[in-house]
Amino acid sequence: MKKPKLVVANWKMHLTIHQASVLVNRLSKTVNPHRGVEVVLAPNYLCLQPLSNEIDRRQFRLAAQDGYFIDEGSFTGAVSFAQLRELVQYSIIGHSERRRYFDESLETVRDKVAAAVRNNIIPILCVGETKEERAQRETKQILHDQIVTALSNLTSEDVSNIVLAYEPIWAIGGSEPAKPDIIEKAVSWIRYQVRELYGKEVEDSVRVLYGGSDEPEFVADIMSIKGIDGLLVGHASLNYEQFADIIMGVHLATLNDSDQADKG
Ligand code: PGA
Repeated sequence: MKKPKLVVANWKMHLTIHQASVLVNRLSKTVNPHRGVEVVLAPNYLCLQPLSNEIDRRQFRLAAQDGYFIDEGSFTGAVSFAQLRELVQYSIIGHSERRRYFDESLETVRDKVAAAVRNNIIPILCVGETKEERAQRETKQILHDQIVTALSNLTSEDVSNIVLAYEPIWAIGGSEPAKPDIIEKAVSWIRYQVRELYGKEVEDSVRVLYGGSDEPEFVADIMSIKGIDGLLVGHASLNYEQFADIIMGVHLATLNDSDQADKG
C-alpha cells in the first residue's frame, strides 16, 4: 500500500509554549484532514507535552527536532529518544543547522538515527550540500557520504520505514526553493543510494521530502517531481494560512497522482 504524502513543519527555535498553542489552534481550524496526506508538527522540546494533549491525532502528528543518541544517563541538558518516544512518532535528525552550529558529525547523525529507530521513532534524515560544495561539483559525494553513514547501522526493514529529506543548504530560509531539475537529480541520486544498499523494494518504501524555502506557490511544481513524497517546511509553517495552503497543495497533488494512476 502506498504511504501517505508527508508535510512536516519545522518550527526550529521559534515560538513559546503559548505561541505554539495559538498556532496549533488556528491550524486545527484551518486544516482539513485529508486521507493521503500526513501532517507532522516539529516544535521545540518544551512544546511537545502540551501540544500532545491539544492536537487531534487524525489531523496532526508530532516530531522532535533532534534527540540524543544514548537512551539514559548523566548527560546534562540532553533529551533522549527513549524519553521522546511517548510524545512523538517522528524526529528530524541531521538537520544542516545541527550539523553546522552543533558540530554534528556523520557518525553522530548515524548514532541518532539508530537511537530513534531503536525507540520506535521514525527518523526524518536531512541531507544536503552547501553552495560551495555544489559549485565544486561535490553534491553527489556529499549526499552519498551522508546517506551511507547515517543508514549504516540499520536493517533493510528499518530503512524501509525512514524518511529522507533533501535540503540543499543554500536554498534554506530564502524566498525560492531550488529549481525542479536540481531537486529531481538530487532525489533520484538519493533514491539510487538506497536502492544500491537495500534494493528496489526498500527504495520504493522510503519517503523522500524536499525542504528549502517551500512556499505555497511552488508546491504544485515540487510535488510533481518524480520521487518526491512531501515537504519539510521551515518559515512558511509558522504562518497558519501559508502552511494550510501548502497542505492543500500537497493534497491536490495526491489527487492528480491518483488521476494518473487511474489512467495508467
Ligand atoms: P525553510 O526551512 O523552509 O525556512 O527554508 C526549511 C528547513 O530548514 O527545514
